Amino acid sequence: MGEKELPFPYKFEELKPEEDELIKTSFGGSALHANFIRLGPKGYLVHKSYMKNAEIVYNMPLRPTDVFVASYQRSGTTWTQELVWLIANDLNYEKAAELSHLQRYHFLDSFISFDENSKEGHIDTIEKTEENANREKLSELLTYLATPVTQLIAAVPLTTKRFIKTHLPMSLLPPKLLDTAKMVYVARNPRDVIVSCYHAARAIKKIDFQGDFKAFWNLFRKDLSSRTPYFEHVKEAWEKRDDPNMLFLFYEDLSKDLPASILRVADFFGKQLNEEQVTRLCDHLSFENFKNNKSVNYEHLRELGVLAKGESMIRKGKTGGWRAYFDDEMTQQAERWIEDNLRDTDLRFPQMNQ
Ligand code: A3P
Repeated sequence: MGEKELPFPYKFEELKPEEDELIKTSFGGSALHANFIRLGPKGYLVHKSYMKNAEIVYNMPLRPTDVFVASYQRSGTTWTQELVWLIANDLNYEKAAELSHLQRYHFLDSFISFDENSKEGHIDTIEKTEENANREKLSELLTYLATPVTQLIAAVPLTTKRFIKTHLPMSLLPPKLLDTAKMVYVARNPRDVIVSCYHAARAIKKIDFQGDFKAFWNLFRKDLSSRTPYFEHVKEAWEKRDDPNMLFLFYEDLSKDLPASILRVADFFGKQLNEEQVTRLCDHLSFENFKNNKSVNYEHLRELGVLAKGESMIRKGKTGGWRAYFDDEMTQQAERWIEDNLRDTDLRFPQMNQ
């Protein structure tokens, strides 16, 4: 606070015309997937509407009590958010039931896909396909999502701990974030992430993905999916894993041994949990309970007409589900893609070949 603003160090670059065309034809002309650009030396794919916020986020004033939960999308963020929030709030299950994640966390980059100007267009499209769409409620939600979150975050009283969710890579966040705040980053086998992203692109009607899984994979591996390149995103956090203010988790570890992950998170926040507390938390975080938990399952989006039938945000919750989606050709492409991207790093995913 009171620190001099840093100049924003990155430049934006337009996509190649053929890349732009591929994205536009893949997403049914949805405004969410038009107007992408590449940002910075890693070329992160972000929506043009992010440009006006990039510098503000980069210079966002932080507090020592801030807690970030970060990830590439569909890596187990919601699961980690609930785990982190409950531990940091002394297992306050009552409050967790009362307030949804949208109320407990600020989603830092929600405006990457929404801005005030595109709001009416979003609502019109949803109304066309959804007879029960509630214009007033939708408008409320979209206004919230389009509000620069940094303003909302700055307005939080100093006595209140701020919980911030982000899918932004470390290099787009304040460079000294870990000198002040804590971050829990969760990563997941990229092939499971891609399958989960594919389903999310079908679940959120407005994204309106037109192709099959192969088409989605081809976009993703060419870094033409939002916030890719995926490996750069993960590597940036991985490089900070030994920082005392960073806790780096893998979805696969949460899946395999949730009690051990709970204890790591508790230790990170300086909390002690007894066996009974760990058992209760495991139960609360189980996939079945999560799926039915209104505070975390995003089912309110269905009532608003945002979610497609047969798809949900808490979907399968398994590791290794990718095998049912990748044919031989895709499997080989993925192996090469992973190998190429892991060559210059000691980052290794647990149970990568499961
Ligand atoms: P799948 O689509 O593979 O099922 P995010 O919260 O980052 O969007 O990640 C979503 C993924 O985490 C989805 O993966 C979702 O099912 C999974 N997930 C959410 N809650 C879970 C839980 N309690 N246990 C296991 N997986 C969970």
